[in-house]
Amino acid sequence: MALKITVIGTGYLGATHAAAMAELGFEVLGLDVVPEKIEMLQRGEVPMYEPGLEELLRRHVAGIEGASGRLRFTTSYEEAGAFGDVHFICVNTPQKHGEYACDMSYVESAFDALAPHLTRPALVVGKSTVPVGSAARLAERLAAAAPAGADVELAWNPEFLREGFAVKDTLHPDRIVVGVAGERGEELLREVYATPLAEGSPFIVMDYPTSELVKTSANSFLATKISFINAMAEVCEAANGDVVKLAEAIGHDERIGKKFLRAGIGFGGGCLPKDLRAFMARAGELGADQALTFLREIDSINMRRRGHMVELTRDALGGGGFLGKRVAVLGATFKPDSDDVRDSPALNVAGQIHLQGGQVTVYDPKGMENARRLFPTLGYADTALDAVRGADVVLHLTEWREFRELDPATLGDVVAERRILDGRNALDPDLWRKAGWTYRALGRPKA
Ligand code: UDX
Repeated sequence: MALKITVIGTGYLGATHAAAMAELGFEVLGLDVVPEKIEMLQRGEVPMYEPGLEELLRRHVAGIEGASGRLRFTTSYEEAGAFGDVHFICVNTPQKHGEYACDMSYVESAFDALAPHLTRPALVVGKSTVPVGSAARLAERLAAAAPAGADVELAWNPEFLREGFAVKDTLHPDRIVVGVAGERGEELLREVYATPLAEGSPFIVMDYPTSELVKTSANSFLATKISFINAMAEVCEAANGDVVKLAEAIGHDERIGKKFLRAGIGFGGGCLPKDLRAFMARAGELGADQALTFLREIDSINMRRRGHMVELTRDALGGGGFLGKRVAVLGATFKPDSDDVRDSPALNVAGQIHLQGGQVTVYDPKGMENARRLFPTLGYADTALDAVRGADVVLHLTEWREFRELDPATLGDVVAERRILDGRNALDPDLWRKAGWTYRALGRPKA
């Protein structure tokens, strides 16, 4: 009989995973402790913006016309325990307030709430990003609290999905990493992932600590790559070089590669920044802090980008203060094709300029609601054109396609000054300059 799967936590990761498991043919029960989220999902609505996810969900949610009916939702752990053969834990592990370490309380509550309802053999699979050592500890806790005792196994199966590509990354993962303590965990996960395995996704089996480390080291590497090119951008600016050309040229070396070499205002989001910090905190606890001191530098190069963007804006406005200046900000989310504003460099820059007296107006295709909630005191406009109306300077801070397709002449008619600063090195400088704009970007010559 086909495995029955539960997915605990229905954020970007869990909602996508639940819909993807139903797409792969399994009966799925999604659980969240927030009843409003569950009500939305039951109606086939996704509580956030993720391309393709709503369509996928609507193909499977029970009660929706034409849907397979394989996907249902609940707030009851009792129901989840009775239903599932395999339970995926997909809750988040945010940064703790005032500390580098990550907050494990959601993971721990999920395990504690589920365990007493595990009365028959089951596999619990952690997908959340956790400090190394957590899985071993949670396995003991699970064995002690689950009525089925040794018939309940734990596996760790880190998730590498990128927001904006969550559906594709989940259905067609570039690798499946599995940390196990026994053979049953591996067997069951081979069954869960039979379809991507048949498509050729590599399946890499290892112990718990290595699987936990794979996730944090992958994110550290990606962050290092971005901060590397941003450090080169700083040098390029000092030497009047062009970081975009430099990245193109070094990217042809296969060992370096072209991806993740876009200089700009740096990385943000709910993963990269907090994962770096949690990794450093954990290494400290393990007595291996020296191994990761370089990550402190990666973090500070990244945070410097935001301040630098503010200074570049001040400079573009004549070097004085921001008082009385109108600043249009295109982009609020931490990356395009998402509505996520967590630790968004774009909003951080907008907020800093606002706090220094600038009149900031923000527009973002999908992130307006979340941005308003986080920064209610900023000005917001319904379109890019409205945002730039009367602006002394326009900042391009999230590389949405919509912004690349803007017509510089149309925008030029409504701004006070044709000045644009590209914080993502994603616009075509020639196009803007030809339309009479002063175009500047991080790490590129003034021209
Ligand atoms: C990341 C990892 O890529 C993913 O594997 C992991 O599971 C979760 O964290 P995500 O947070 O969705 O995914 O975003 P990602 O695409 O990695 O981008 C992170 C940040 O880096 C964004 O703010 C983006 O704008 C920035 N970035 C990316 C750059 O500044 N330059 C680049 O070249 C690439």
